[in-house]
Amino acid sequence: MTRETWATRLGFILAAVGSAVGLGNIWRFPWMTAENGGSAFLIVYLGIVLLVGVPGLLGEFVIGRRAKRNPAGALKALSGSRAWELVGGASVLTAVVLLSFYSVVGGWILRYFLASPTGAYFGAPGPYYDAIAFGTPESVAFGLLFLLATGGIVLAGVRRGIELGTKVMMPAILLLLVVLAGWAAFQPNAGEGYAFYLGADWGSLQANFLDILPAAAGQALFTLSIGAGTMITYASYLGEDRSLPFDGAAIAGLNTVVGVLAGLVVFPLLFSFAPEAAGTSGPGALFVGIAGAFANLPSLAGLPMGRLVATVFFGVVTLAALSSSISMLEIPVAFLVDEFGVSRRRATVGLLALVSGTMAANALSPAVFGFIAGTLVDLLLTAGLLAFLLFVGWVLGRDAAAEFAKGASEFTQSLATPWLLAVGVALPLFLWFTLLTGIFGALGVGGAVETWMTVVIAAGLSGGAFLALRRPVSVL
Ligand code: PHE
Repeated sequence: MTRETWATRLGFILAAVGSAVGLGNIWRFPWMTAENGGSAFLIVYLGIVLLVGVPGLLGEFVIGRRAKRNPAGALKALSGSRAWELVGGASVLTAVVLLSFYSVVGGWILRYFLASPTGAYFGAPGPYYDAIAFGTPESVAFGLLFLLATGGIVLAGVRRGIELGTKVMMPAILLLLVVLAGWAAFQPNAGEGYAFYLGADWGSLQANFLDILPAAAGQALFTLSIGAGTMITYASYLGEDRSLPFDGAAIAGLNTVVGVLAGLVVFPLLFSFAPEAAGTSGPGALFVGIAGAFANLPSLAGLPMGRLVATVFFGVVTLAALSSSISMLEIPVAFLVDEFGVSRRRATVGLLALVSGTMAANALSPAVFGFIAGTLVDLLLTAGLLAFLLFVGWVLGRDAAAEFAKGASEFTQSLATPWLLAVGVALPLFLWFTLLTGIFGALGVGGAVETWMTVVIAAGLSGGAFLALRRPVSVL
């Protein structure tokens, strides 16, 4: 059977933007920001998106388009090595881990969407969230519902499922967010919301840089969907050679716009209608805060504005979540289809059964969920991207630069070598450092290991990896 491809270039871009735009922008971002020092976090995060995220995204694209396979198959095919196949296989597992907690939150979103027309949570937003979030049969049931919707789209295939779905969902999301943000600007305390969100706090940035770094890096990778092989998989469905750098910049740019837009909706509403919830942290921050704000919206000319806006808002978030979860499920589906010749249908159904179980573990235990969503995911994505970029710089080397340049304009072609140096040398150093800092932090030995020691270890590990991987085509 021939492998599917995207029908159009726009279809690929929208699918990738759909993957990037998701709960990471709307739900995880405010939570992580509140937990890591507010706007200081925003600055580090945006810097990493630009300097690490975009080149990293292109690294995944290069692997995917060159191999036209899922992450495990791609690394094997391009290197001829079984060890690299295992590395790619690990990223397939990362995707399963991601989907397991993501569908729990997707279930909450779906539930809030369905409850918005009646305003079921308006009376007591805090207790409502506490009652539904974890440990109840419904938290599993709504997670399942969300998984089924995800599976339905993936089952329909690359063109008729993912491409068609995101082509409808992405414009809807953008349009509705612009309308919501415009409307939010006229609410009474919008200014305070903007100030909290966009006011740069350089002092706390300097003081807490190392604490913020691993989380900000993890969040930057998370929001761009890199480090798990999503973008390898999506680029593997590219039929012709178009400018990858152009597409990558468009995708990262649109993702950032949507992220900032979401903040322009959320923060003015919080400060206008639920100021007491503006500092709420934890995974419930969005649900308690924003739901509380909707509950306090006054009616307008007899229209129940709270219910109306809430329905639109959670509708947008549901679409954003779905267009991301399908990209998580597509990774293991592509793996089973490419490597074992399983039909798309059997692969999807089998994986849904597996993930239902792992999702339930997250829905039933806040501790499991918190560890996976708050810590493990950051580390897995950082390690995953590190491995992919070492592969690009040292195994593919100059072939990667050639792939980067294919279909690109003359100016963009001149960026191929600097890009290769960045992804092959500079970014691995940075990612080793971030990964170690994150692991030390998670083990609770954060303070005991001095920064310069971490730098030395990171440099040693990078140097070792470079030497071990070096071949004639390598970057250096
Ligand atoms: N980028 C998605 C979001 O922001 C999450 C995601 C991460 C999707 C990794 C795929 C892979 O919601």
